[in-house]
Amino acid sequence: MASSLSVLVLLCLATAAKAQLSPNFYSRSCPRALATIKAAVTAAVAQETRMGASLLRLHFHDCFVQGCDASVLLNDTANFTGEQTAFPNAGSIRGLNVIDNIKAQVEAVCKQTVSCADILAVAARDSVVALGGPSWRVLLGRRDSTTANISQANSDLPAPSLDLANLTAAFAKKSLSRSDMVALSGAHTIGQAQCQNFRAHIYNDTNVNSTFATLRKANCPAASGSGDGNLAPLDVTTPTAFDNAYYGNLLVQSGLLHSDQQLFNGGPTDRLVRTYASTPRRFNRDFALAMVRMGNISPLTGTQGQIRLTCSKVN
Ligand code: HEM
Ligand SMILES: *[C@@H]1O[C@H](CO)[C@@H](O)[C@H](O)[C@H]1NC(C)=O
Ligand SMILES: *[C@@H]1O[C@H](CO)[C@@H](O)[C@H](O)[C@H]1NC(C)=O
Ligand SMILES: *[C@@H]1O[C@H](CO)[C@@H](O)[C@H](O)[C@H]1NC(C)=O
Ligand SMILES: *[C@@H]1O[C@H](CO)[C@@H](O)[C@H](O)[C@H]1NC(C)=O
Ligand SMILES: *[C@@H]1O[C@H](CO)[C@@H](O)[C@H](O)[C@H]1NC(C)=O
Ligand SMILES: *[C@@H]1O[C@H](CO)[C@@H](O)[C@H](O)[C@H]1NC(C)=O
Repeated sequence: MASSLSVLVLLCLATAAKAQLSPNFYSRSCPRALATIKAAVTAAVAQETRMGASLLRLHFHDCFVQGCDASVLLNDTANFTGEQTAFPNAGSIRGLNVIDNIKAQVEAVCKQTVSCADILAVAARDSVVALGGPSWRVLLGRRDSTTANISQANSDLPAPSLDLANLTAAFAKKSLSRSDMVALSGAHTIGQAQCQNFRAHIYNDTNVNSTFATLRKANCPAASGSGDGNLAPLDVTTPTAFDNAYYGNLLVQSGLLHSDQQLFNGGPTDRLVRTYASTPRRFNRDFALAMVRMGNISPLTGTQGQIRLTCSKVN
C-alpha cells in the first residue's frame, strides 16, 4: 500500500516536472490565434525579408535563457534589468517591435490568453515557412516570465568564437544533442551577421576559402572600429531562402562565422553536414524536430508566470 502510494506520488511528480505543451492549446480559448500570428509574420517578412531571420533568432535567444518564457522581450526599466543589453543581444537582436505589434493584434481577438513565449515559437515557425523552409506543429501552452537574467544571457547564448566542443557543451546544457546543434545551426541559411562577429574568422582562421575570405574582407576591414557593424549574409549562396545551402557552403569552407565552419572541420559532425548538404529532406525533417525540442526548454506552464498584456513589460 505504502509503496503503491509512493509510486503514485512519483508519477504525479514526474508529470508535474515534465511540462505539458500541446499543439491544440488555444483551439478553444483562442481559435484565431495562429492565423492572426501567421498573417502578421507573413506581412512583416513581405515588407522586409530579413525580419524572418530576426524572428527565428529571437525564439532561440529566448529559449536558451531561463527557457522559452519570453524573458528576452522584457525592456530594461529604471528598476529592472532585462536581457537586451547582454553581449549576444545588444545591437543585434531585431524584431521586438514586430512581436509587440503581433501581440496587440492577438490581444484584440483574445484578451490575455496567448503568451508572448508562444507567439515567439509560432512566429519562428511562420518565418521559416515564409522563406521556403519546412513547417511543423508548434507545441503551445507556455507562459511568460516576470523575470529575466542578463548574466545567463551572457553565459549561455553561444558566441561565434566557440569551438565544436564548446558549442556541443552549450547545447548539451539545454538538453540538446550535438546532432540537434548541427541541424539548428542550419538557421544560418538566412539572415545576416556583423563584421565584428566574423572578422577574426575571415582574417585569421586557416579553414577559410580564400575566394570567400577576399569577398568578405572587402566590406569588413581588419581593424576594429567603424566597420564593426557592416553586414554580410550568413549564407553566401542563397541568402534569403530557407534551404540547405548553408551546409554546402561549409563543404567549400565558406561558413561566415568561426562557429559555423567548426561544424565541418575534420571532426565528428562532418558526416552530418555532408548528409544535410546532399539531402535537403533530411535537413528539413531534422530542423523541424530540433525546433520542437528547442521549444520545449523549461517552459513555464499551468499557473507559473503570467500571460503578459504587452510583451515588452511585465503586467
Ligand atoms: C550554434 C551556435 C550559434 C552561434 C554561435 C550563433 C551566433 C550568431 C551570430 C554571431 C549571429 C550574427 C549576429 C550579428 O552579427 O548581429 C547570428 C545570427 C543569426 N542566428 Fe545564430 N548562432 C547560433 C545558433 C543559432 C540557432 C540555433 C538559431 C535558430 C534556430 C540561430 C539563428 C540565427 C539567425 C536567423 C540569425 C540572423 C539574424 C538576423 O539577420 O537578424 N542561430 N547567430
Ligand atoms: C519598479 O518601479 C515601478 C514604478 O516605477 C513599480 O510599479 C514597480 O513595482 C517596481 N518594480 C519593482 C520590482 O520594484
Ligand atoms: C541567473 O543566471 C545565473 C547563471 O546561469 C545563475 O547563476 C543565477 O542563479 C540566475 N539568477 C537568477 C535570479 O535566477
Ligand atoms: C571550451 O572548451 C575547452 C575544452 O575543450 C575548455 O577548456 C574551455 O573552457 C571552453 N571554453 C568555453 C568558453 O566554454
Ligand atoms: C589575427 O591574429 C593576430 C595574432 O594573434 C592578432 O594580432 C590580430 O588582431 C588578429 N586579427 C583579427 C582580425 O582578428
Ligand atoms: C572556394 O569556393 C569556390 C566557390 O564556392 C569553390 O569553387 C572552391 O572549390 C572553393 N575552394 C575550396 C578549397 O573549397
Ligand atoms: C520597449 O522598448 C521599445 C524600443 O525602445 C519600445 O518601442 C517599446 O514601446 C518599449 N515597451 C514599453 C512597454 O515601454
